[in-house]
Amino acid sequence: MRFLITAGPTREPIDPIRYISNRSSGKMGYAIAEAALAAGHDVTLISGPVNLEPTRGAHFVSVSTSDEMFEATHRHADKCDICVLCAAVADYKPAKVSPAKIKKDRGQFSLELILTRDILASLGRKQDRQFLLVGFAAETGDVEENAQKKLRAKNCDIIVANDVSSTNSGMESDDNEVTIFFRTGEKERILRAQKKIIARELVKKIDEFARKMFDKKNVTITELE
Ligand code: PMT
Repeated sequence: MRFLITAGPTREPIDPIRYISNRSSGKMGYAIAEAALAAGHDVTLISGPVNLEPTRGAHFVSVSTSDEMFEATHRHADKCDICVLCAAVADYKPAKVSPAKIKKDRGQFSLELILTRDILASLGRKQDRQFLLVGFAAETGDVEENAQKKLRAKNCDIIVANDVSSTNSGMESDDNEVTIFFRTGEKERILRAQKKIIARELVKKIDEFARKMFDKKNVTITELE
């Protein structure tokens, strides 16, 4: 199978030296890329800025902003069988980017933020989509309910929910604990473990589900409910 995986945060510039971003380390996405390669799959890894070495053997695409990640993901998605969007894409970006460093002598000021484009939702809306679409849900409460809502709203085939409210699991940590929700209504829990182990299980389960879906009907995945 050909996997496309997004990982890490995006950076939304305010001026030439400042940006809005988040704590995503890229560890979860990179672990999925490594696990998919180890299982014999072909991998394209689209990564925001992280302190990790590009995964050896993957086709690596480096991006910074949500717009760059949007363009790169759309450029590669149709060449893949499975898209796993694990990146923590910024939801908001400054309405205007100052071309010069903003000086503090102007005193207090407010930053107007606008929504970024939602990459996962845009892939979910694609007509005649031929690839399996896997999203992540980073939640700090009502994990199951919110993840199910995202699965439907963004028209994914699978959503992988993780709780990001604690510091020893989820974001930045080496460990995670996830619940996988399938569009067919099933759900599966993977108990707390290292991200490398979670990633191996995830790749196995996503691959199994994709094969079932592709076997059922070799046309549009979105018609397979
Ligand atoms: O990088 P690590 O430190 O290892 O942490 C891993 C992780 C916690 C970042 C990862 O496991 C995770 O949960 N990734 C998704 C983070 C996120 O943005 O979740 P969300 O619930 O806000 O978004 C839901 C989905 O929409 C995600 O698949 C996200 O990639 C996608 N999205 C969101 C906003 C946007 N503008 N475009 C998107 O595609």
